[in-house]
Amino acid sequence: MNIAQVWLSIDIETGIDRRGITELLEASTAVLSRNPQPRNPMPHVVTDKCNGCKFTDCVEVCPVACFYELDNQVVIHPDDCIDCMACVDVCPVHAIYEEQDLPPEFAKDVEFNAVQSKQLKDSGAAAITARKDPLPGAAERKKALGY
Ligand code: SF4
Ligand code: F3S
Repeated sequence: MNIAQVWLSIDIETGIDRRGITELLEASTAVLSRNPQPRNPMPHVVTDKCNGCKFTDCVEVCPVACFYELDNQVVIHPDDCIDCMACVDVCPVHAIYEEQDLPPEFAKDVEFNAVQSKQLKDSGAAAITARKDPLPGAAERKKALGY
């Protein structure tokens, strides 16, 4: 029995507009049944696909400056990412995933992003926000990754 049926089964006179409330409850039940597991915001993660590429299209679109730069790739600070997804589609090698959608082979990158970005930020390094030239060999690496 869903919540709307429970409500209808209560046979008391309350003077409340039960029909209106019932319709509201039915609409809510329908929405919940279409979305049984509402998504919690999760940080995004730069995977090893960035390693050797560093195209940096991603850093320019991030509204909260949460990318930090290593020699061979960038990483996302998990506490600063607001889960806006703006960076996902601009990466030419599709290196960025929401944490909960991460392919299993990149599971280690969650900790890598967290540790490296926090170390850099805590040491006083600024986030990277401006695009720059990709690494030498990025075009070949992109091809090798199938893009
Ligand atoms: Fe920045 Fe949004 Fe990408 Fe998070 S998801 S790193 S906030 S662009
Ligand atoms: Fe790396 Fe893609 Fe950004 S290659 S630097 S995650 S655009």
